[in-house]
This record gives sequence, structure tokens and C-alpha cells, in this order.
Amino acid sequence: MTAISTPARVLRGPLLSFAADPGDGDTPAPGSVRHLEDGAVWMVNGHIHAVGDYVELAPHLPAGINVVDYSGKLMMPGFIDSHVHYSQLDIMASYGRQLLDWLNDYTFPEECRFADRVHADAVAEAFLDETLRVGTTTAQVFCTSHPGSVDAFFSAAKRRGLRMLAGKVLMDRNAPDGLTDDTLGGLADSERLIGDWHGKDRLGYSLTPRFAPTSTREQLEATGAVLRNAPDLHLQTHLSENEGEIAWVSELFPESRDYLDVYERYGLVGPRSTFAHGIHLDQGMRQRLADGGASIAFCPTSNLFLGSGLFDRQACHDVGLATSLASDVGGGTDLSGLATLKGAYQVGQLLGQPLTAWQGFYRLTLGNAKTLHLDQHIGQIREGGEADIVVLDPQATPLLARRTARCQTLAETLFALMMLGDDRSVYATWAGGQRVHARDAA
Ligand code: GUN
Ligand code: ZN
Repeated sequence: MTAISTPARVLRGPLLSFAADPGDGDTPAPGSVRHLEDGAVWMVNGHIHAVGDYVELAPHLPAGINVVDYSGKLMMPGFIDSHVHYSQLDIMASYGRQLLDWLNDYTFPEECRFADRVHADAVAEAFLDETLRVGTTTAQVFCTSHPGSVDAFFSAAKRRGLRMLAGKVLMDRNAPDGLTDDTLGGLADSERLIGDWHGKDRLGYSLTPRFAPTSTREQLEATGAVLRNAPDLHLQTHLSENEGEIAWVSELFPESRDYLDVYERYGLVGPRSTFAHGIHLDQGMRQRLADGGASIAFCPTSNLFLGSGLFDRQACHDVGLATSLASDVGGGTDLSGLATLKGAYQVGQLLGQPLTAWQGFYRLTLGNAKTLHLDQHIGQIREGGEADIVVLDPQATPLLARRTARCQTLAETLFALMMLGDDRSVYATWAGGQRVHARDAA
């Protein structure tokens, strides 16, 4: 429930929302897609009061209610990014390194700057401006190891009435002094932040051990203890992204049979745990993750940019392991969900498992919401849900207009958007019933 009371409004225009997983076939599973040619979304107090065909809803609307006309556009639920680092906004596109060098050369020095709260506030605002500009209304966010970076992020998200998950990075070794925390002090800071922010307005806390190499056994153990006592918290970390990283983990944790075993030992593999990347896994590890109810965040533009490898979505699907879609900025090259879909399609092509537009847009919306256990609030345009909506423009650029003029079906238009779309294709973004971005606003 958002604290912000917003005036009732109706958004009118074409509308697409998923009610269930459409599957991987060219035709969506029966009943999985809701598409209205001339739809209406009636928003009251940050929630969707009613949704349906405009002609059917019109007689029930209060006289004089504000109707925003989005004819020719396409309304969808706000996009969701399941794994992103707000603190890495300004090191996106840093040349020529794979993961461990990239962390040491660019990422860790940049994150040290977040000891300064003024800097953290400024980047948090810039990050949210950008995410809303690309239609992303919810994300699961890594802050830095500085508690102030989390206060900065949550304060900015709260002011804008957004649903966000975030957490303080836990890392007590193998990083510069300006970034490492104290083993148990890091957990005490996390507990203070949980008290201040978790469950407040639309905010939720994710425990955030960075990855196995930067936490001692003691810190991982203490993180597991906090999670056991508060199972409604989320947990986010990284897993099996890069070959050098995996070799390092086996040196640091010789007692563990594999990388995943490190997290299992400390009770970190649970239903609300998101493991970013999970590229280099065998089927046994995938099965263990599935059995724990955990999920993997597939971050295609990051995996391509850092040369980490090709994520095998089908192998996860085969063992019932849930996957979400994520940007992983600043390893990722684009905050845009549309760009993430394009990357996912390209990775899929190289593995002989191309992503359909149906599956792609499902993942960006209801699929990610379900995987993050947020689907009681977001992910669909449905009565009672929170009013987070992205309005796409299939004619956003001359090229897109030419291409979509040729499209005979909605599937073709969606595919053109996912391959040719970018921030210009996002005409407007609404969050909690308020317009938080308008492309053409003066
Ligand atoms: N592994 C540990 N930290 C990071 C990070 O910041 N980005 C990525 N892509 N992988 C990581
Ligand atoms: Zn990451």
C-alpha cells in the first residue's frame, strides 16, 4: 500500500498483460495473455480499481474523471529488473576486462565513492530517473557496503512511491579498505537498515553478500542466521559467473565440493534467494538450486559484455529451476528491459533456444514478479494490483514505425519492439498511479 494518495485517473489504449506463463511456443498457452485493443485502466489511490474494454468501463466512470489517451501505444505492466547495481551507473561501458579485473580496476574504486552520502544521493536519483525512463518500475538492487548508500537509495525510491528491493553489500575481505566492512558489524548495519526500511511503504530488504570470495565464513554464517530468523527477507548474491571466479572460490573454500555448496553450507539457498548469472553450473547444481526454491537472474548484456559465457535457460527449465531477467548494470550495457530481451534472444540463438516475444515480455513482467515473490502486488494489469504501467510506442523512431507498419500480428510488433526498441520506445511510465516519466514532456 503506497503512502501517497493519488487522484483517480483512467489510462485508455491498447493493453497487454499476462495472466500466466505463455510457454516457449510460437503461440501463447491458452488463457495466458490478456490483450485489449481499446482498453481502460481505472486507477484509484495507487491501485488498479478496474480494467477492461473502454466501452464497457466507460458507463461506470465518475463524471469528469481524467482520461489519458494512449491510442496507438501499448500499455503493459511496469518492467522488473531482478538484479542491478545502482552504484555502478557511472562505470557502465568500461573497456576490456573480464570479471575479476573489472571488479578491481573499475568497480571497487567506484563503489568506494559511496562512503560519501551526498554522492550516493545524487547517483540514486540519477539511477531512478534512468530506470523510469526505460519503463522499469521495480528492481532488486545492490547498493554498496556503506549503509548510507542504502539510506540514499531507499529514501529516493520512497519519495517516488516505487516498489523496490535493495540491500547493503556484505563484504569483509578481498577488497579495498574503503569497501570492506567488519564481519559482524556488516550484519549489525544490515539489521538497522532492515528495521528502518523493510516493509515500509513499497520497500523490501534483500540481504546482500556480494559473492563468496569477498565474505569470510563467519560473515556468510551470520548472514544465514539473519535469514533463518526472518524468512520474509530476500537474499541476492552472485554465483558461477566466470571461470576465474570459480577457481578462486575453490581455493578459498577447499572444504566445499563446488561453488554452490559454499552458499548451501550457510543456509543461503532459499525461496527468496536470487543468484545472479549461474552460467557455469552442471545439472546437479541446477537441481539443488531448484530443490531449494531459489532462482537465477539471467543477465544477458552483462554476460556478453564481460565475456562470461552463454546462459543455458533451457537446462534450468528442464529441472524446474526458476529464472528471472536482469540488466546487471554496470556489468550490463543497458538498463532497458527491451535491451535485456534483445540480449537474451541473441544468447538464446547461440544455444539454439531463441526467446519468443511472448516469453520475453512475460519474463519482464509477471515472470520476474513471481520469481521475486512480488506477484501479489505487481507484474500484471489487474484489478487490485498496484498501478505500475509502462506505455510503449511502436512508432517511436522512423525505423520502428516502418518496421511495425509491416507487422500483421501482436507477436510481430512485440518482437520488433524487443529487437529495435530502446528508451525512445517508452512513451510514459506510471508508478503507484502517478506519472513518473513522460518522453515528450517539455
Ligand atoms: N560478482 C561480484 N561482484 C560483482 C559485480 O559487481 N558485478 C558482477 N557482474 N559480478 C560480480
Ligand atoms: Zn551483479
